[in-house]
Amino acid sequence: MRKGILAVAMTGLMAVSGLAACAEDAQPADSKTPFVGVILPDSKSSARWETADRKYLEEAFKAANVKYDIQNAQGDKTQFQSIADQMITKGVTVLVIVNLDSGTGKAVLDKAAAQGIPTIDYDRLTLGGNAKYYVSFDNVAVGRLQGEGLVKCLTEKGTKNPAIAQLNGSPTDNNATLFKEGGVSVLKPKYDAKEYTLVDDQAVPDWDNAQGGVLFEQMLTKANGKIDGVLAANDGLGNAAISILKKNKLNGKVPVTGQDATVQGLQNILLGDQCMTVYKAVKKEATATAELAIALAQGQTKSVSQTTKDSETGKDVPSVLLEPQAIYFANVKDVVTDGYVTKAELCTADFAAKCTEAGIS
Ligand code: BGC
Repeated sequence: MRKGILAVAMTGLMAVSGLAACAEDAQPADSKTPFVGVILPDSKSSARWETADRKYLEEAFKAANVKYDIQNAQGDKTQFQSIADQMITKGVTVLVIVNLDSGTGKAVLDKAAAQGIPTIDYDRLTLGGNAKYYVSFDNVAVGRLQGEGLVKCLTEKGTKNPAIAQLNGSPTDNNATLFKEGGVSVLKPKYDAKEYTLVDDQAVPDWDNAQGGVLFEQMLTKANGKIDGVLAANDGLGNAAISILKKNKLNGKVPVTGQDATVQGLQNILLGDQCMTVYKAVKKEATATAELAIALAQGQTKSVSQTTKDSETGKDVPSVLLEPQAIYFANVKDVVTDGYVTKAELCTADFAAKCTEAGIS
């Protein structure tokens, strides 16, 4: 019955467009009704996963009228595997993952591939994996913006020969490697020229914010309180460092970087405790992913203009890599204008005056 209606509709369409084949014939043989499964990593390493990624992915799937299932592994690798198993059993036709590390991510990608389910690496590349696409930001550029931000804030403060601490993201997240690469590309020439001194450099397992605070406190103790700038990989780790600086009455004196334009990070910037954050327009990342996922489910391949080399397989993974933006006090308002955070969330009582000063109306 439905086919009959479609055939009638198609005959009309063919008459208009002069199409030679009906749409059913034109569909690839492996076309399936799209059903997209998405596994998010956790809700603690950054607020973004639940406040931005889930929201924008849902919006994109709803707008395309596509069935979806978005779940969060809450930082648990076993849970990550069982969510993937459940999704495969439920019949997802495409699987999108943000891996917790490349090894466990690869196990999931392999399982999906064995069932003929195409996959997309969302935000984090699974090294040694086989995803059809990788959608993210230019993550070396993210790190570069952080390095440049730290230099800008230290210069504005007039700090001479600053002692720098680097608080990096998870050693098992390929992004963290890229952020550090970008940051160090700016700072290393200054270390080499003895303009800046690197006093400590630590990676924070699983981006655990609490552990980041513990590590930073140890760094500060070891340096006898002499840390003048902190290259922190995201807003959560930045806030962990700021909490310790507050305990030592050093907040606001020591610039700290961040990433993700979280409400907390932006508020820290408004107060002058954080130097900058990196805004990544997650809406664009989610929309691009939804488009590719739908195409894959329909057995199509969309061409994308970028590739990313998987350092383990040496293969070029077709990619969409978006541009990040540096956010300082003066342009916090851009994040509000873009709709990523609302004025109501950001400009609560304690921040109202600073919001006005920053031109957020
Ligand atoms: C993401 C960051 C996020 C971090 C911790 C990275 O892979 O790119 O946006 O802050 O993970 O979740």
